[in-house]
Parts: sequence; structure tokens; C-alpha cells
Amino acid sequence: MYFGVDYYPEHWVYPYAGTPELPESRWERDVELMVQAGVNVVRMGEFAWGLYEPEEGQHDFEWMRRAMDLFGKAGIKVVLGTPTAAPPIWLAKKHPEVLPIDERGLKQHEGTRRAYCMNSDVYWDYSKRLIRALAGALGKHPQLIAWQVDNGLGGHDTEASFNDETRRDWHAWLKAKYETIERLNDMMGNRFWAQTVTEFEHVPMPMAAPTLHNPALVVDWMRFCSDTIVAYAKMQAELLREITPNIPVTQNLRALTRNFDHFDMAEVLDFVSVDSNAAIKSKSSELACEIDMMRSLKKTGIKTPDGDCGFWVIEQKAGNVNWQEVNSLVRPGVVRLFTYQLISRGACGVLFFLWRQPRIGSEKFYGGVLSHDGRGENRGFHEIRQMGQEIKRLDPVLRDTRVVAETCILFSHENEWNFKFNKQPNKHFNQREHVQLFYNALHDRNIPVDFARPTEDLSKYKLVIAPSLHLLAGGEADLLKLYVQNGGILVGTCNTGLVDEHHIAPDSGYPHDMTDLFGMEVLEFDPLPPGEENHLTIKGAFAATHLHPARLWCDIIEPKGCQVLATYAKDFYGGRPAITMHEYGQGKAIYVGTTSHQFFYYDMIVWLRQLCGLYPLLKVPDTVEVSMRQKENTKIYFLLNHQNSPVRISFFKPMHDFLSGKTFTGNYDLPPHGVLVLDEQSASHASP
Ligand code: GLA
Repeated sequence: MYFGVDYYPEHWVYPYAGTPELPESRWERDVELMVQAGVNVVRMGEFAWGLYEPEEGQHDFEWMRRAMDLFGKAGIKVVLGTPTAAPPIWLAKKHPEVLPIDERGLKQHEGTRRAYCMNSDVYWDYSKRLIRALAGALGKHPQLIAWQVDNGLGGHDTEASFNDETRRDWHAWLKAKYETIERLNDMMGNRFWAQTVTEFEHVPMPMAAPTLHNPALVVDWMRFCSDTIVAYAKMQAELLREITPNIPVTQNLRALTRNFDHFDMAEVLDFVSVDSNAAIKSKSSELACEIDMMRSLKKTGIKTPDGDCGFWVIEQKAGNVNWQEVNSLVRPGVVRLFTYQLISRGACGVLFFLWRQPRIGSEKFYGGVLSHDGRGENRGFHEIRQMGQEIKRLDPVLRDTRVVAETCILFSHENEWNFKFNKQPNKHFNQREHVQLFYNALHDRNIPVDFARPTEDLSKYKLVIAPSLHLLAGGEADLLKLYVQNGGILVGTCNTGLVDEHHIAPDSGYPHDMTDLFGMEVLEFDPLPPGEENHLTIKGAFAATHLHPARLWCDIIEPKGCQVLATYAKDFYGGRPAITMHEYGQGKAIYVGTTSHQFFYYDMIVWLRQLCGLYPLLKVPDTVEVSMRQKENTKIYFLLNHQNSPVRISFFKPMHDFLSGKTFTGNYDLPPHGVLVLDEQSASHASP
């Protein structure tokens, strides 16, 4: 398993380290300390363009080669970034047209990273030239095991630019999609406010305007921007594969905060890498949800440097971040705990960001494995060194194991963009929070979850949850029907099927194309402000542990053959169905026409578990997170204590923990932030 750090050798030369005689001598000490910490890979160079090419056409890759050679002596492998995320100043001076223009028409200036328009031919040409030179110079270096293309594509809100070249590409994209101007006007609904066009070149980009742009145009614009980003990454990946065919290509993605289609991006990569901010305080189930989403981006065709089948965490924060209002220290044991959370959910490579706190630049107070002093005596270094030793023991055990889920949550970026960028019936309804309610209920009951887009083959899942697919293509609805027809259990929820892929509302009832599947029709929907609630009267199908509110959104449902599982308690739709179930083919389609508090989802999952024959991985106290990786006959369980206090676990048979090498019997108090990695035979005997 690869275990490493993100290293910036260019930061550690004289006068920031080393001596005038030996300006790079600090590198040797870094390598020594890395070896002590169990590091076997470093990622480097993702922002080094201005040093590789200080003047146009004057390349210098030798300093990086010297760093790679040094790592070679210590057996440490290297991932190189293509440094296109940070264009050199001379390029912006010579070609100011590469600088991105924002939605107000204002130029974003040079002097930082990400200052480029991804539709710029000039930028593409310069990127290609640089990548050819880099791969030509260092691509055959024996230490090189992977390329990272660019860095954080779309980060700092750079998904869209409004340059002339963007406009040109936008119009070409529209022409390819709609073919004729009549079709474009019809499908986009341009008759509204009479915004019809007579030429493709007249279609606006959604720049700052007095009021709302056409929502169909906005969704198309997001699709176009996403295609642009993916095309830029693809261009780099293909070029690298041409020059170094055996070196896999990755990209550092962030858990779906950036506005491009991450599933599309994963397709152009050999393996997915992620940046994790796990070290900042957040709920373990929210982090777990993000990890499961990222793991799910690429389910097949994975090619990692060592042939393992998971994803990499190419930036696991080694300590505090620097971008919160207050950047508190990360408590002892927490980086380790969250690193195991990533591994437990399928990571097969982990690199810490960053090796040492930089003495220069805007990230100097970011937590590093080493602190500014570089002595290797700090708390963070000890914690990561401990992990380095543990990973060596775990490596053979985890090799080729993967997370297997029988439950899936559907997620579509187009739908997400519609929620984010178009006006909604209820601005307080947040789809990600809605997804999280279902996810928490599954997570807290230790049921593994995958994510998928609605167009994937869902047949391997016993349960598919489709939360609020407001924008749903007709083809997607057909695939969901096929899934249920063949015996699947589908849970749809309110705010689904209100528009199709063209952002046209159905004239055949909501949810569009699925009223037959759910055996009902949503006649009206009632968005509620926060604090105003209806209540659910559960009709006996599942046990209610609490009085469950109906919040934010109430669908008024007309049953058409479905069974009614719950009704609303009051208002003019009191007594009307709120939750329904319909047999369709071999399967069942359940519809929840509202949102509720977390307890409702717990109750629902208890019921769904029985309905679908889903079993929790292990019975342990609620505060312990459990996940499992498996292959053939091997099942490895991870138990993580996210609490600040010990949790008692009872073992009725002796159990073997791979981390400590100890065998536990009877009661064991898992310490605060403690981690166990257990083998299957023993683990199956654990109980609360
Ligand atoms: C991203 C980038 C890193 C660093 C961190 C800081 O992860 O890839 O270079 O800037 O953000 O949050």
C-alpha cells in the first residue's frame, strides 16, 4: 500500500533551507525522516511550472530529477503533477487572453494559481508543450509511478469563465447538441419572455443580468462547463498516455463541492484520487458519506500504480487547515482515526498534505507532518510515523480487498446543478442534506452504501434510494422502472420528476414518467418554511419510535393503485397519503412525499432492512463506526471510536487485531479515537 506525503522540494532550498554551498542539502534530511515515518511515495511538482520554465522555452527539469534521484536511493516512489494549475507570470503577460473573465465581464488577474480559461487554445497549446517537455524529461525516471493532471480542477470557483473563446466553444457545443436553431428554441423553451434566437451565436452565456436566466440554459451551461473541464483533463491524460503508456493518470478531486460531473471526470482517469479535509471537525457520517461518494465514482476499469482496486487519498490533511475563521489544532489521534476511516472505506493509497509547513507563501500555517522547525520531534510527525509502521503490517491483509455494498443512493450532477443554480420552490430544501438524512440512518446502522448515477446498472443492489431527483431524464426514469420490474426495491422522495432533462415540466403528472411505477400521482406540492410542520400518521407498515414531523415539502398524493403507508396529520391535506408503496413487476416502489427529522429515517431503515434482507456488518455500540473490506473468503472489519471517551465492546470469543497484534477476549474498552482492524472469524462474535 502506498503511504506518503505531498512534498515541495522547491520550498526547501537556500535561503529557506540548506546552505549557499549546498542549497538542496535539506532534501537529504527530509528523505531520512520520511523513511523513519514509513513513507514510500511522494507527490511533487504540481505548481512548479514557473520553475520548470522560468522563461518561455527555457526548460529546467534537473532540480526535480535530483530530488527524484534522492528518493530513488531511499526506495521512495514519485507521483508528478502536471503543473498547469499555476501558470507562470510571463505567460499571462504575453497572452493576457488566457486569463479568465468572470460573469460580470471582469478579468481575473495573474499572480495566483488557477488563473486561466480552460477554453483558451493558447493555454491548451502551452499546456501541451510543457507536458511534452516534462514527460520527455522525467517520464522514464524509475521512481515515477503516476501522473496527477493539473491540481484541483474547478477549484476556487473556476469552473466557468466567460471569455470570447468560451463563447465560441459554447456555441459550438450548442450546435452539436441541438443541430438546428428551431430545435434549440423549442427544447430550451425560449418562447418564455420571448428570448428566441435566430442564430446559435446569439445564445447568451449566463452572465450577470437583471434577473433569472432561463433555467434550461443554465443547466446546459453547467453541462458545457463540465464538458470543458473534463476535456481539458482528458487532453492531458491522453498526451501522457501517448508518451508514458504504462504510467497511470489521476487527478485530485474533492468531495463533490466543485461544479463538474465527477463521474465523467473519473472516466478519463485511471484511478481516482481525493483531497480530504477530514482533520477539521465534522460529523463522522458526513465524512463517511463523502468518502463513499468518491469511492463510487469509478467502479470498474481502475488502474492504480500497484494494481490495487481502490482510490487514493492524495491529500489527507496532516493537521489543521488554513482557511477556516479559526484554524484550531487537530486533537491527538484524530488524523490517525480519520485516515483509517478513509482506508476502511476503500482507500488503497494515502498521502499527507503536506510534508512540512512552508516558510513561504499563503499556506504557511497549514498543519504539516513536520512543523516549520523541520526537526521531526512534533506531535504530528509521531502520529504519522506510528501509522506508517501500522500500514506496513496491514498492507498484505488489505491487498485487493474492497468495500461491497448492497444499498445504493442515486446522485446526479445535473440535478444538483439545477438545485444550486436555478430558483427553487423552497430555497430551504437542500438536497445534499436530504441525502445525508438517509445516509446517516444507513451509516449509523453499519450498512454499507454505494453512490451511483441513475444511468448505471443498479441490478446488483437490493435497495436503491433516489432522493429528490427534481430533474430526471425520461431515459433515467425508464431505467429505474427496469430496476424495480426485475425485483429491486426503490425509494423515491418528494421533489422528484418535476422537470425532464430539457427542464420542461410534465403534462402527464408528477413524478414525470413514473406515476405508473409508484402507482400514484403528486397533484400539488406544498413547500413549508423552516419551523412550520405537519406530522405523519404511520399506518402500521413500520414502527414509529417518535412522532415524525413532515418538513419543508409536502406532496399531495392521489393514490392510483398504491398502498398507503402514512398520511398527513393536519391541514387541508390531512388524511391524504404521505408515504406509499407500490408493487411493480417483481419489485416495490416506495415513495416518501416529504422530509422529516433524523429519527424518521432511522425507523424507515429498520423497516427497509427487513424488507430487503439487509444485515448490519456487526453489532457494536452506536457510537462505533464499522466498515468492512473483503475479497473471496477474507473479511476485514474496521471499528472506529469517534468519541472523546472510551466505548466498551464485548468479545465473546478471542479476536485478533491487526494493528496492535493483540488478541482480545471479554470486555475491551476501545479508547477515545481508537481503531481496531479485525479479522472475520473473530469479529463475527463481537456484540454490544
Ligand atoms: C487543495 C490543493 C492544495 C492546497 C489545499 C489547501 O487541496 O490541492 O494545493 O492548496 O487545497 O486547502
